Amino acid sequence: MASTHRTFPLLLFLCTLSCTAWAKVELTKQESVEVFLGKSAEISVHYRITGPDYTAGVIIQWHVRTLGNNTIQRLYYSDDSLQMVDNNTDYSSRINVRSDHQETVLTISDVQLSDERVFFCQINAKFAGSAEGKTLLRVFAPPAAPVIEGVLTGISVTNEGPSKVASCEARNGYPTPNITWYRNSTSLMTTPGKVNVLNVVTRESNGFYSVQSTLEYNVVKEDKDAYFSCEVSYFVPSAVRTVESKRINVSVHYHTTMVALWKESPKKGLVKEGDNVELRCQGDGNPPPSFIFNKEQEMQVLNSSDDRLILTAVSRKDSGIYQCRPLEAESNTKVKGEMQLIVHYLDPATVIPKDLEVMSKGENLTATCNALSSLKTSTNWYKNGKSVGEGNRLLLQDASYETTGEYVCEVTLLSLPALRTQGSVHIIVKGGPELVGVGQELELELEESVGGVVNLSCEAHGHPLPTITWDIVGSQTWYEVVKRADDLSAQSVVSVRVTSDTRALCNVSNDLGSETRLFSIKAVPLASTIAPFSSAEGSELIIVMIILCLLLLVILGSVLYFLHKKGTIHCGRSGKQYITKENGAKEDIVMEMKTNPKAEDAVLLQVVKADKKDSNDQ
Ligand SMILES: *[C@@H]1O[C@H](CO)[C@@H](O)[C@H](O)[C@H]1NC(C)=O
Ligand SMILES: *[C@@H]1O[C@H](CO)[C@@H](O)[C@H](O)[C@H]1NC(C)=O
Ligand SMILES: *[C@@H]1O[C@H](CO)[C@@H](O)[C@H](O)[C@H]1NC(C)=O
Ligand SMILES: *[C@@H]1O[C@H](CO)[C@@H](O)[C@H](O)[C@H]1NC(C)=O
Ligand SMILES: *[C@@H]1O[C@H](CO)[C@@H](O)[C@H](O)[C@H]1NC(C)=O
Repeated sequence: MASTHRTFPLLLFLCTLSCTAWAKVELTKQESVEVFLGKSAEISVHYRITGPDYTAGVIIQWHVRTLGNNTIQRLYYSDDSLQMVDNNTDYSSRINVRSDHQETVLTISDVQLSDERVFFCQINAKFAGSAEGKTLLRVFAPPAAPVIEGVLTGISVTNEGPSKVASCEARNGYPTPNITWYRNSTSLMTTPGKVNVLNVVTRESNGFYSVQSTLEYNVVKEDKDAYFSCEVSYFVPSAVRTVESKRINVSVHYHTTMVALWKESPKKGLVKEGDNVELRCQGDGNPPPSFIFNKEQEMQVLNSSDDRLILTAVSRKDSGIYQCRPLEAESNTKVKGEMQLIVHYLDPATVIPKDLEVMSKGENLTATCNALSSLKTSTNWYKNGKSVGEGNRLLLQDASYETTGEYVCEVTLLSLPALRTQGSVHIIVKGGPELVGVGQELELELEESVGGVVNLSCEAHGHPLPTITWDIVGSQTWYEVVKRADDLSAQSVVSVRVTSDTRALCNVSNDLGSETRLFSIKAVPLASTIAPFSSAEGSELIIVMIILCLLLLVILGSVLYFLHKKGTIHCGRSGKQYITKENGAKEDIVMEMKTNPKAEDAVLLQVVKADKKDSNDQ
């Protein structure tokens, strides 16, 4: 109060006048008191009054400097008889003062931002004079954690000067917080042309300070892997604290300087015709550009998607050098990727001679088998599934009928086993007939019991296919049971019933010659080969005899009748003829008998004998 101030010189004057010279008031105070918003602040003042006992009549007063009109306002007054908090001040309800003879403490509860003011303490002693101390109350409020926001669009390294990279905000602090920027934990200081930091401090209506900071930075390609963060620093009672924001990275855009082109699939191995091939192109630019593909020295742009070129069912025509270039504005078009694609192939095998070749016996022939390929080929020859030669030439020397057949050549690629091809030639050796089998003898002698059956076989190689004819003398009953022919040989088997010594001539012939084989069959009488008759055979014989007798009787009867009619008897050749006829009749009867089930044993016996003969022949 103005009135209090005016009393100071008067009191001092009175003191110097009426008190002893050494009496005085000494006061110790704090320069400032620091406190968090909302907490209680204590401002304490120590005092000492020296001289005689002048403690009585001490007056203690607390004042504050008002904010608006910068005047001093009393908050508290006490003397020997009175202790009083002034009414109608900002502090009437929030302060408390306790004092003793050395100290007075002002406590302010629920400190507000507006409490950051200077507080005065005034001690008056009647005779020792007075003293005054002032203390600044400082209030602190930590800001909220900083919030960082990176630029969402990519930043191009070609931008001139620093570009906005991120902004950071720290809100509601007191006093004003500071913001510091970091790139990979290194603080960024404002550097002309490289780093700009723009800060805007806002005083909020509630008294807090908010700081918004913008970082402008000259990005380079290396920043694609860098992260940025901001840090807020603020004062708290007797300390400085810091809080870091989260880290962000920015997408840095830069042009492609290098491009690589490679075969993505097939991953391993060589490319062959018919494969699907995928080529991929990649550059070091960001964002990854699209690419255009072409073949070297061909202007035509190939149909691709982004960074892939897909070639389906490639052929040898697709071999060549492929290139890819990034498709980006204002980029260096000289940057390109390149690779060579080789499509391997194996053409169908060509065999010479073609398809079918006829050669003469004893001749030589060289067959060749070739298949055009981009790789080294390997050729193998097979006949009837068996290997007969290697290499693309097959020499057939001194041709024989065994040379006849189909020759298959197979061409393979060592480094690309998936590719293989085949070709073939059918070789036929021509020549005169050549009898085969049964030791190749031209004359054979055999024995057979009278009435027995022999199978005579004649087989011959030859080209053209030999015809087989039989000339059989001595037996009327023979017929061909087997007639067979393939491209190499012909065979004929005749079944001959032996009635007497028989000569069978087999003539095998074709345009180029003929050969014959003679079978001489000696007929052996039945008795000598078949020892005792079985009872069944005996009875059969008796029946035959009876029939013969009856026939004789009939003949005799007719002769007698004839003689009786003509009255003469002629003796001679006609009788003999009858006898031969008898033989023929006997044959007929035997044949009939064979159909009789009772004759089975006899037939069986004959088969057994024929088997025996066959095994003897061999
Ligand atoms: C100064 O302001 C305070 C309130 O802040 C008020 O109580 C006081 O009357 C004012 N004094 C003058 C001289 O205007
Ligand atoms: C930030 O960087 C990390 C690691 O370097 C990376 O994995 C991430 O994708 C990047 N994010 C952006 C938005 O660039
Ligand atoms: C904020 O920055 C100013 C100026 O550089 C400095 O004087 C002050 O001490 C800083 N405050 C904090 C809390 O670091
Ligand atoms: C075999 O038959 C052929 C052709 O019919 C004939 O030319 C040849 O003289 C015959 N050979 C004999 C020995 O009969
Ligand atoms: C002769 O051959 C034919 C046909 O192969 C066969 O049925 C028959 O039993 C054979 N005869 C003899 C006596 O081997």
